[in-house]
Amino acid sequence: MRVLVTPDYRTLSRTAAELLIKALHAKSNLRLGLPTGRTPLGMYEELVKKHQEEHLDFSKLMTFNLDEYLGLPSDHPKSYHTYMKQHFFEQVNISPTNIHIPDGSPGIDADRESERYEKAIHDAGGLDLLVVGIGANGHIAFNEPGSAFDSRTRAVDLAPETIANATQYFGSDRVPARAITMGIGTMLEARRILLLAAGTSKADAVDRALRGPVSPDVPASALQLHPRVIVILDEAANHHRVDC
Ligand code: GLP
Repeated sequence: MRVLVTPDYRTLSRTAAELLIKALHAKSNLRLGLPTGRTPLGMYEELVKKHQEEHLDFSKLMTFNLDEYLGLPSDHPKSYHTYMKQHFFEQVNISPTNIHIPDGSPGIDADRESERYEKAIHDAGGLDLLVVGIGANGHIAFNEPGSAFDSRTRAVDLAPETIANATQYFGSDRVPARAITMGIGTMLEARRILLLAAGTSKADAVDRALRGPVSPDVPASALQLHPRVIVILDEAANHHRVDC
């Protein structure tokens, strides 16, 4: 596992974008796993800038998002479909048919959708590169503590702390209690993984994920089992600071 500690969030975002661009130059039809959340926003901004200013070509890129809330229509303002459109897809020349996000629409058969999604990844030849964030409780995608390391794409219940954390984005709307997520087993099959974490609120989770015992109690610790992981942190996420 290679750990790069960058001085600040801006450098973290640039470093992540550069790595991704390098992968895209090496393989224009890259199969890329993508996260949502606050952490990758700067990376998406950098990629959009490269497209607008230097015509970076995304036309052959194929993307697979990590997860989606269950029970939200895809055009709901807080769905991950909407997030991805706003921050990335609508601002670059990706082909809509190359975009994959689990469908969490109300009434969806979540088991069938999970199977379909898993098959879509498989049929595409697997993921070349997977970008992931980490939750303060150590989750990756929506694999909450206790998730099996061989889990596949499936419907899951969100941990109370994950729901509490998301209320800041949902305002008066209720945060969905369930989601469809890539499994840890699915994620570990990616050829390369890039983990991003920024801010002091992530320092404890990062420490447990990178240096603690490998355990389903800390889903991100599964990344220690993967041979090609790069971790990009900012300074704040690098130390577990204990207030005295
Ligand atoms: C959500 C997402 C994860 C993400 C995590 C951290 O739970 N499902 O994929 O990594 O939040 O989000 P943030 O980057 O906003 O801290």
